[in-house]
Amino acid sequence: MTPNLAATMRSGREFLRRAVRVLLDAGIDQFLDIGSGIPTVGNVHEVAQAANPQARIVYVDIDPVAVAHSRELLAGNDRATALLADLREPKLILDQARDGGLIDFDRPVGILLAGVVHFVADADRPADVLATLRAAAAPGSHLVISHSTFEDQPQEMLDAQRLSARTATEITLRSRAEITGFFGDWTILEPGVVHMPLWRPDSPSDVDEHPERFGAFGGVARHDRTAG
Ligand SMILES: C[S@@+](CC[C@H](N)C(=O)[O-])C[C@H]1O[C@@H](n2cnc3c(N)ncnc32)[C@H](O)[C@@H]1O
Repeated sequence: MTPNLAATMRSGREFLRRAVRVLLDAGIDQFLDIGSGIPTVGNVHEVAQAANPQARIVYVDIDPVAVAHSRELLAGNDRATALLADLREPKLILDQARDGGLIDFDRPVGILLAGVVHFVADADRPADVLATLRAAAAPGSHLVISHSTFEDQPQEMLDAQRLSARTATEITLRSRAEITGFFGDWTILEPGVVHMPLWRPDSPSDVDEHPERFGAFGGVARHDRTAG
């Protein structure tokens, strides 16, 4: 729990929407959104299918309530589904997404990890989780990550964070360098891994005076390595 949780979540959703549009422009038409949460206005499938009605989306969350809400919202949409699964078991997610027939891992895929990797503790080897997901993705695939950080944060934010560390929603704040490492050897797109509002804002006036106040970095990378 951060002091400005609602604003932080809004900033995170806006970052995700901007990133999804960039992926759509790059020709991505299938999305694996892990840690997708409770559906809100402007969900990934709405943004993606408005731009490309053929776009396919698989939502994944560990929370049965989030998955139930997502399924309700997706009723009648045969190009989107929601899976109950745990990011810490990426092979199971990949198998289920593949078996469901909506994601073809031989073609470029957009892997979205918005506000979720910080729920994976160091003991659960987040770098290995990311490596497994990247290894499954064809060249041309894109990876979107937003992740809470301790960098540039005021003491009150870090104190609030320390309190929440005693609850079930424990999160691991990480440095920009650690978060950047989750992209592996993929090409990080401009402007790099930055405080979320600074990532390709729709207009300069959208950038908060203190973009660091949302306490999270965001970035997007592309798999450029050719197969073989
Ligand atoms: C802060 S919300 C982010 C929701 C959405 N991606 C967004 O950007 O607004 C984090 C979500 O990650 C889910 N989550 C936490 N740990 C997870 C895990 N190990 N595997 C899958 N989902 C997880 C939570 O249930 C929650 O819905």
